Amino acid sequence: MSNAILITGSNGQLGTVLRTSLQQKYGKDKVIASDLRPSPNYDGIFETLDATNEEDLATIIKKYGIKEIYHLAAILSANGEKNPLASWNVNMMAFLNVLEASRLNGVEKIFYPSSIAVFGESAALENTPNDTFLDPLTAYGISKSAGEMWANYYFHKYDLDVRSLRYPGVIGYQSIPGGGTTDYAVEIYHSAVKEEAFNCFLKEDETLPMIFMEDAIRATIELMEAPREKIKIRTSYNLAGASFSPKEVAASIKEIYPRFEIIYAPDHRQEIAAKWPNSIDDSAARNDWGWQAEYDLKKMTATMIEKLRR
Ligand code: NAD
Ligand code: SER
Repeated sequence: MSNAILITGSNGQLGTVLRTSLQQKYGKDKVIASDLRPSPNYDGIFETLDATNEEDLATIIKKYGIKEIYHLAAILSANGEKNPLASWNVNMMAFLNVLEASRLNGVEKIFYPSSIAVFGESAALENTPNDTFLDPLTAYGISKSAGEMWANYYFHKYDLDVRSLRYPGVIGYQSIPGGGTTDYAVEIYHSAVKEEAFNCFLKEDETLPMIFMEDAIRATIELMEAPREKIKIRTSYNLAGASFSPKEVAASIKEIYPRFEIIYAPDHRQEIAAKWPNSIDDSAARNDWGWQAEYDLKKMTATMIEKLRR
């Protein structure tokens, strides 16, 4: 096989959707999904792979003639704070392995998902610029911002075509989130369609940047398909969808379920969210490779509820 695509961490919230989208675009035989554990319901080629294992990663690259890697494997923000050093180890070791194994084994292009978690106290909360000081306050954010620097380094030193997006919180009906601070914005819709009250772990006015899954996947594929000369930022691009607070999501749900109830019980995740942007400026992505989000809060709510009801 040649020109195959490898996805690490493909059993997660984004991977389960991305792997199917890539299959539809490039063919089932071109997409190699991988994760720590098998994925029984996945219809496609799958390899069990711990992305921190250098030898196993190189073996898979050689076995399938991998030319592109979508490196999704990571421990997300809230889970990462339970064991910060372990989260750093997984997030950094896996990405460095992907970079090095790619350089040594002929992989041509890599996608690296960064996050709004790279921003900290020094960044403006509103319309946070792409190019600003990064002083993240979670182990996850530290690993993502260090990863951005390594992406830039491998591009400049080895001419490895690494491309990256700073995803906001991703909201989708297809999969369950994996331990992040933005997870409430998926869970709330599940409670709404079950007609249950929702206990929210953030404050009612904690505004965060979010993006609908369809937009996030389209942005990823558009970035990866853009002509090389259009990719001017080799650390990572800010990506925006829609920004809103729990109170605003609840209000949009109440337009469909008027009796929907939300109870606010902020926990440790509120502290993480408070340091992240309220909204981000993605003009560089729009100008460089033509990014344009399609889903606002109203459209997200209508789609989430319609799909989850089924
Ligand atoms: P997720 O937690 O749902 O999935 C991550 C997957 O990585 C899991 O299936 C897990 O088993 C796997 N994994 C963990 N350690 C691994 C290892 N050592 N080797 C191989 N696989 C391993 O995460 P997601 O939401 O799908 O996120 C995908 C990527 O996008 C991550 O890098 C994440 O940081 C980034 N991101 C996600 C969001 C979001 O809102 N979901 C926002 C910003 C950035
Ligand atoms: N949604 C992710 C998280 O909350 C942001 O990277 O961790």
